Amino acid sequence: MPDTTAFPEDFVWGAATSAYQIEGAVAEDGRLPSIWDTFAHTPGTIDNGDTGDLACDHYHRWPEDVALMGDLGLNAYRFSIAWPRIVPTGSGAVNAKGLAFYDRLVDKLLDAGIRPFATLYHWDLPQTLQDDGGWTVRDTAERFAEYAGVVAGRLGDRITDWTTLNEPLCSAWIGHLEGRMAPGLTDLTAAVRASYHLLLGHGLATQAVRAAAPRTPSVGYVVNLSPCEPATDRAEDIAAATRADGHINRWWLDPVYGRGFPSDMREAYGVDLPEQAGDAGVIAQPIDFLGINYYFRQVVTDDPAGPAPHFRQVPVPGAPTTGMDWEVYPDGLEQLLVRAAAEYPVGALYVTESGAAWPDERNAAGEVHDELRAAYLEGHIAACARAIERGAPVEGYFAWSLLDNFEWAYGYDKRFGLVHIDYATQERTIKSSGHRYAALIRAHAERTGRTTSASRLPTAR
Ligand code: FCB
Repeated sequence: MPDTTAFPEDFVWGAATSAYQIEGAVAEDGRLPSIWDTFAHTPGTIDNGDTGDLACDHYHRWPEDVALMGDLGLNAYRFSIAWPRIVPTGSGAVNAKGLAFYDRLVDKLLDAGIRPFATLYHWDLPQTLQDDGGWTVRDTAERFAEYAGVVAGRLGDRITDWTTLNEPLCSAWIGHLEGRMAPGLTDLTAAVRASYHLLLGHGLATQAVRAAAPRTPSVGYVVNLSPCEPATDRAEDIAAATRADGHINRWWLDPVYGRGFPSDMREAYGVDLPEQAGDAGVIAQPIDFLGINYYFRQVVTDDPAGPAPHFRQVPVPGAPTTGMDWEVYPDGLEQLLVRAAAEYPVGALYVTESGAAWPDERNAAGEVHDELRAAYLEGHIAACARAIERGAPVEGYFAWSLLDNFEWAYGYDKRFGLVHIDYATQERTIKSSGHRYAALIRAHAERTGRTTSASRLPTAR
């Protein structure tokens, strides 16, 4: 078990999910399609032809899922609010039934002593807005702020922890440049414009949450970062690693912390940004915390023939990998946390996602022994401890994910949960990793004299 002595007493122990990945009920109570419904229903986009139509049926099973969080001893839950449930056409009419769903969920979480961390955008843009240009047009950033204000106005008396965007890199680069995520474009100009409007939307939504929430909110922003290293000491690879760092890390942090868009990357993309007077200040709204999602480092080589910005990730020979073929490299998390705190005025840091997929099976006794995932989580929590000792203000850790769920283009094959889902029956089973995580939370609570609902669970298996 990792030593968490360095962790603050009120450390946030959570798990994360997102709406489209778990909720199902895509046509219920007034929800209209998002770009992910459209993308998932486009033949050839998702492994096995899977879609989020049913997912974990969380829209109906949420009380059971909150009870599972209690069993795990979580003191926080990071989830996303589905824009297409709240403002189904993306602008105009607000859907009371959509708001009511999250209203009930939040009450139940608070009753269970679980602090809600709400993400306003985890990739499910209302399709109507996509039909009008999606994130490539400025209007979408303004609509996003309107929706954020509606949600904060209704739930901000009970939710204090908000994040605007989850991983805008994926929306812009994977969704508009690589085409592997919704809306499935492969267009550099569209991707760069989308990145700009996402960041503008982040700033406008931050202002909207602050204006609308009845209680003073804590507002943050969630990025997926990767340490970037050259595969060799060739000058071309070293330059490629600098571009990778720009594309993956600096493009998403510099403007938010008032440094503007990195000039080397503006040049590398060669696309004019749709800048207007005053935007830089909006994008650089002061925020209260930075959420870092971390999965792997990027060891890269120069790739002149590939798409801008001309680098390619290469495998690390002999390195351990997950079922996604992602390298297991906990030191990378320590590096990112220390670097973020040293280079940017982050306020507080949270690890808002950390986890791994492996092909888990239930055994004859109905148990799931996922030792690799348990070790993965412990290794990354130990990395947080080292970062804290080096001065990084890490205030919480959220395992990805609470439940096995719809892993985007990989469908249901890739299981990231602390809790196993039998998709045929929707039966939930806490995996060994969940028990081990609960034991760690309990040990931390015992040392700091706090109580946790995890004391109900048997000791780790
Ligand atoms: C992140 C996403 C999350 C999940 C994990 C595995 O990029 O934010 O929804 O898919 O990866």
